[in-house]
Amino acid sequence: MRIAILSRNPSLFSTRRLVEAARARGHETKVIDVLRCYMNITSHAPSMHYRGEELNDFDAVIPRIGASVTFYGTAVLRQFEMLGVYPLNESVAITRARDKLRSLQLLSRKGIGLPITGFAHAPDDVEDLIKMVGGAPLVIKLLEGTQGIGVVLAETQKAAESVIEAFMGLKVNILVQEYIREANGADIRCFVIGDRVVASMKRQAKEGEFRSNLHRGGTATLIRITPEERSTATRAARIMGLNVAGVDILRSNHGPVVMEVNSSPGLEGIERATGKDVAALMIEFIEKNAVLGKTRTRGQG
Ligand SMILES: Nc1ncnc2c1ncn2[C@@H]1O[C@H](COP(=O)(O)OP(=O)(O)OP(=O)(O)O)[C@@H](O)[C@H]1O
Ligand SMILES: [Mg+2]
Repeated sequence: MRIAILSRNPSLFSTRRLVEAARARGHETKVIDVLRCYMNITSHAPSMHYRGEELNDFDAVIPRIGASVTFYGTAVLRQFEMLGVYPLNESVAITRARDKLRSLQLLSRKGIGLPITGFAHAPDDVEDLIKMVGGAPLVIKLLEGTQGIGVVLAETQKAAESVIEAFMGLKVNILVQEYIREANGADIRCFVIGDRVVASMKRQAKEGEFRSNLHRGGTATLIRITPEERSTATRAARIMGLNVAGVDILRSNHGPVVMEVNSSPGLEGIERATGKDVAALMIEFIEKNAVLGKTRTRGQG
């Protein structure tokens, strides 16, 4: 097969691993920087161009679209879909997953366990917002944050009020969330492919820290997950419409709760922690499912 990998940087660990795994299984690959793609959307002859050449004859496309280029990146992916190329994750599903509020709303509608969560832009009554989610201690998150930056633990009612007011002053969207203390600074990353969790790791925050992000000094180890955690992760991915997803779960007193569903989960942490060849499993999934011209979003979305 000919597989396009949408990635801005061919030297990233995940990109390199996908190229390696695809080649090892006898496929041709091309790494494509989405920002350098340009497209013709004429109704009878849509096309895709890259560095002066028309791109065609791809059987499948693996989107690894960074958060900062979501808008243009999903448009490029959609163009591949219009050309009948099989996407490992569809553009609509990626767009859905990139919107945290939309994701939480979809998951809650289907009964997936979530931390009690409120969201706000400019509430006139901060006290009532805090009361609504059960009071302090609370986790307050910037909607646009990543790698643990913009995630704050407010231990007391007063601290929560001041942090929320400070964020409000900056005119940013925030999430206010029940603090899952019993998770003890750990979360579980479940790597889902299709309807299976193929690998899972526990990320543990460093001493004195509640955020388990590896960028904040957290450490990753192999973990055995429970059947309930397994089904929560696969259901969450399915609800989002993602074939490949990184589902982040906290172990709470009321069962597993989903923090986030990531549409472009990194391979480095999970492959190192579990020793599994996750990249090969992604390629294998494409081999089984990519049928030329068969994409659910073709001409839609
Ligand atoms: N409600 C919560 N209760 C307990 N711990 C939490 C809660 N929310 C987040 N955490 C901890 O803080 C870490 C960072 O939070 P989160 O994953 O929401 O933000 P982020 O990593 O900055 O964003 P993203 O995952 O979108 O890149 C989590 O991995 C988890 O360890
Ligand atoms: Mg996170």
